[in-house]
Amino acid sequence: MSMSFEAGRLLTDRGYLTQVQYRTQHNLAARQSIYAYQRPLIDLASAVISLAGMNGSETVADIGCGNGVYLGELARRGHAGRVLGADLSAGMLAAARDTVAAACHGGSPTSGLVLSDAAALPLADGVADITLAPHMLYHVADRQAAVREFRRVTRPGGAVLVVLNGSDHFAELRDLVNMAAADIGIAADAGWAEGRAGGPGLILEAGAELLGSVFGSIFQRDFVGELVVPGPQPVLDYVASMRFTQSLAEPSALLAALSARLPGGSVTITTHCGALVCR
Ligand SMILES: C[S@@+](CC[C@H](N)C(=O)[O-])C[C@H]1O[C@@H](n2cnc3c(N)ncnc32)[C@H](O)[C@@H]1O
Repeated sequence: MSMSFEAGRLLTDRGYLTQVQYRTQHNLAARQSIYAYQRPLIDLASAVISLAGMNGSETVADIGCGNGVYLGELARRGHAGRVLGADLSAGMLAAARDTVAAACHGGSPTSGLVLSDAAALPLADGVADITLAPHMLYHVADRQAAVREFRRVTRPGGAVLVVLNGSDHFAELRDLVNMAAADIGIAADAGWAEGRAGGPGLILEAGAELLGSVFGSIFQRDFVGELVVPGPQPVLDYVASMRFTQSLAEPSALLAALSARLPGGSVTITTHCGALVCR
């Protein structure tokens, strides 16, 4: 049996994304929490925002803002310009609201939140000085349309910052999951669709090509590290949150097979993502 088609289809399926994977921040938060084991520890939101070279007065649009990691970072910095978060999921926008409120420490947030699709943004032409689209473009069925929207809503001279994973991101875990799937009779090669060249996902290398077809200049900054996870549970929690696992009839069978494959001690996993600064 091959589950790769189903997992690949779910990658851009709006019903799955809004009603299951991102209905609440539960799955995303499970994946975010494993980065506590990253060496060197990279504060990605801070590093990506710093690439934009802002003075604090800019209007920023964060497309696919999720639970508000980047919005929270802007609030913590006391960003005074307007900030707008857009996401397909009402549950994620609710989580983003909480993140921004916590980061403001009771002050008044400058963020607005809007439920919308990246491929049809309800924003005026050129409204943003800076548009962020971190770790979200692989979820959009019509990526060309989304990239054109990013360019449309960003003023001439502004910048669009897209973040995607490299093809080697989480390679060791991908191999472990594929072996565990094989152990229970599932051909899983696309369990990791967004991190696999030729799959339905969009990796950093292909993203740079796509963006290069729309923008005049692309600057790429890579962030490479590794996770040194002290024991199996954070890895199992991560895998339980994945679209591939959730596409299976019996997710617990995969998790049991993975548990048997994991070493008794620590697990080391490569991390590699890149920010593409497009002008
Ligand atoms: C992996 S999360 C990334 C969240 C955030 N950008 C971050 O880096 O922490 C992907 C987010 O994109 C949102 N999303 C998926 N498809 C979208 C679309 N077509 N338009 C807007 N948001 C979308 C999801 O609801 C989810 O919140």
